[in-house]
Amino acid sequence: MDVSNLDTSIDLLGNKYSAPIILCPLGSQRAFHAEGELAVARAAKAKNHLQVLSTVATTSIEDVIAARGAPVWFQLYHTPDWNQTKAMIKRAEAAGAPAVVFTVDLIGGSNRETMFREAMSDTRNCIQCHTGGRPAPGVSGRVDDRDNRRKPALAKPAPGTPIPEVGTPTWDFVKRIKDTTSMKVFVKGLVTSEDAELAIQHGASGMFVSNHGGRADNSLRATVECLPEITKAVRGRAIVELDGGIRRGTDIFKALALGATAVGIGRPYIWGLGSFGQDGVEAVLAILRRELEIVMRQCGTTTLKQITASYVVPRNG
Ligand SMILES: Cc1cc2nc3c(=O)[nH]c(=O)nc-3n(C[C@H](O)[C@H](O)[C@H](O)COP(=O)(O)O)c2cc1C
Repeated sequence: MDVSNLDTSIDLLGNKYSAPIILCPLGSQRAFHAEGELAVARAAKAKNHLQVLSTVATTSIEDVIAARGAPVWFQLYHTPDWNQTKAMIKRAEAAGAPAVVFTVDLIGGSNRETMFREAMSDTRNCIQCHTGGRPAPGVSGRVDDRDNRRKPALAKPAPGTPIPEVGTPTWDFVKRIKDTTSMKVFVKGLVTSEDAELAIQHGASGMFVSNHGGRADNSLRATVECLPEITKAVRGRAIVELDGGIRRGTDIFKALALGATAVGIGRPYIWGLGSFGQDGVEAVLAILRRELEIVMRQCGTTTLKQITASYVVPRNG
C-alpha cells in the first residue's frame, strides 16, 4: 500500500489539530522559562496542537488564548470556596475556552518526597512568589494552600460572599460544574471503567485517563494498562485522552490502537520549554509527530482511524 501521504489530523470539539498530541495542563510554567505558558501557546499555534491551561498557570487564560490565536481548554482545581471555583469556570468560559477539565486525581493528596527533600536545601526566598507558604507534605488536591501572586486564575478573591465547600468533591460536583457552564466538561485522573461510566452518567463529554504522570497515584497500574477497560466501557460515547509516560511516537500509536482518541504529554514539553523556550516545545512536538508518522507508515495506517486494536498484541497473547 502507498503510505507516502499520511493524515495525522484530529477533530476535537469541532476544532482541527495537526496531530493527536495534547499539551497537558502543567502549573507554574514561568518557573521553567521566563515566557512560560505564552511560549507554549506560541508553539501550540505554530504546530497546531491543543493546549490545556492549568488553574495554577502563571499566565492568564486571556493572554494565553491571545498568544495561541485560538481557544485553549481550561483545567480546573476546585477551591474551598464554590464562589471562587465558579468564578474561575465563568472566566474561562468568557475567555472562549470550549472545555473545562476537572482534575480529580489529587483529592487524596500526593507524596512528593523528592520535592519536600529538595525544598529543604532550596535557599531561594520563597515569599518572593508564594504568599501562602508551602503546602504541608501530603496536603494537596485543592488550591487553598497555594495562594500565589503569580497565578492569575487565583490572584483575586471572587466577588460576593464565599460559599464554603463541605468535604471533598463527589460526582455531584461534576454535575454542578456541568450545570454552571456551557463548556464541555472533562474529568482528568480516571483509571477505571467504573469511573469512566460514572463520568458519562454525570454529563462528562470525555475523560483524561491519567495519574498525574505518576505524581498522584503511584505503585498502581500504568495508565496505558487501564486504557483497554476504559475504552471498552466508553464504547465511543466520549472522548478518551491518555497521558502519562508518552515519550515516543510508538507510545502514541499504541495508545490510539488501544482506543484512545488522543494522548497528552506533560514532562516532554516542559523539558523542551525549560531548555529552549518556544523552540524547545516545537521541537518536542515535531519529534513526536515524526515518530508517529514513521510507525504509521511501517504499519500501513495512513489515517488515525485505521490504527486499531489489531495492531497490538496483548502481553499474554
Ligand atoms: C510539573 C508538572 C506540573 C503539573 N501540573 C498539573 C496541573 O496543574 N494540573 C493538572 O491537572 N495536571 C498537572 N500535571 C499532570 C499533567 O497534566 C499530566 O497528567 C502528566 O504530566 C502526564 O505525564 P507525563 O509528564 O509523563 O507526560 C503536572 C505534571 C507535572 C510534571
